Amino acid sequence: MTDYKLPKPRPVVDKFEPYLPGRSLDQVKKEHGLKHAVKLASNENPLGPSPRVVAVLRKSAECAHLYPDGFSTDLRTAVAGRAGLPLTRVTLGAGSDELIELLGRAYLTAKDRIVVSRHAFIRYRMAAEIMDAGVIEVPMGPDLKHDLAAMARAVTPETKLLFVANPNNPTGTYNTTNEVRALLDALPGHVLPVLDEAYYEYARTKRDYADGLALLKEGRRLVVLRTFSKAYGMAGLRLGWGAGPEDVVDALERVRPPFNINAAAQAAGVAALADRGHVNRSVRGMTSEMRKLEKALNARDVEWTPSAGNFLMIKTSPRPGKEVFEALIRKGVIVRSLDEYGLPGHIRVTVGLPSENRLFLKAFDETRGT
Ligand SMILES: Cc1ncc(COP(=O)(O)O)c(C=O)c1O
Repeated sequence: MTDYKLPKPRPVVDKFEPYLPGRSLDQVKKEHGLKHAVKLASNENPLGPSPRVVAVLRKSAECAHLYPDGFSTDLRTAVAGRAGLPLTRVTLGAGSDELIELLGRAYLTAKDRIVVSRHAFIRYRMAAEIMDAGVIEVPMGPDLKHDLAAMARAVTPETKLLFVANPNNPTGTYNTTNEVRALLDALPGHVLPVLDEAYYEYARTKRDYADGLALLKEGRRLVVLRTFSKAYGMAGLRLGWGAGPEDVVDALERVRPPFNINAAAQAAGVAALADRGHVNRSVRGMTSEMRKLEKALNARDVEWTPSAGNFLMIKTSPRPGKEVFEALIRKGVIVRSLDEYGLPGHIRVTVGLPSENRLFLKAFDETRGT
């Protein structure tokens, strides 16, 4: 046999901690011998996609042998139309997650830095780490909001990207138009701010929520990320979009894989944008269930953080969130523990269907009694 040595991956790959997705229903049912389980762990829309999306997906199955349109022309045109921007200012990703990673790939080297806040969505940090770039982490305020003024102050000459999840996952907190404007005013020109608005459709119901697209259209230099995974109920199709200055969109277009949006997702995205009613119903249903959940937690003297998303961060301490998470899973309720976010005394619960939320509360009560 030939004596050979396999090449080693880049040193950073060995150190890299992969993302831990929420556990799937099938996994949990199998592991715990459960007939029924509910997943409130990944901020999905429990109503699922629009029926129009389901119809076009059925049709697209017949063309599965053909490569998709590499430019996603129809979808890109629909997205640009919705955003009110030219085609040259929007790009598409396999989830907004892919766009976060592409920003890293396009902009970061080992010499560069990103600025994020301490309990921000974790994928920004990962996008920097895989490029061997440094992460400047800024503490949040006591209200668990991004401290945008402190983030602006943390910028160094090496800082290229500054990520703001608005609202943030897992805290659910959001930043106002005035706060975001002040951040954009304070940032030096060598920093590209990225506003991740994965929960935009929920958050826009808050009067003072900062709409990144509106700021972009005022001529501000920033990137806005949106997704079809949350209020559109299409997480499984992996579809997100980004809007920004032409040069940034051009950079992302250069580094993206040639067929990053599959044909089914392209057709589904067009159909989804045409059904505003489905998104509105989803947001209304979620909001009413969120209010019920908040009330129920108040009645139990349980602390939670006001959320502009479709999820609630609930305080479990002095019990570790992980312990509560495990106890809930044994009862068939999957939530998220938040150790990796530096919030070990909390869990995050997605607002589900009325029956799912009732099941969560029942299981939560039982775990508190144990
Ligand atoms: C703040 C935030 N950004 C981005 C994403 C990624 O979403 P997707 O890749 O499904 O569009 C998520 C998913 O949970 C999120 O919470």
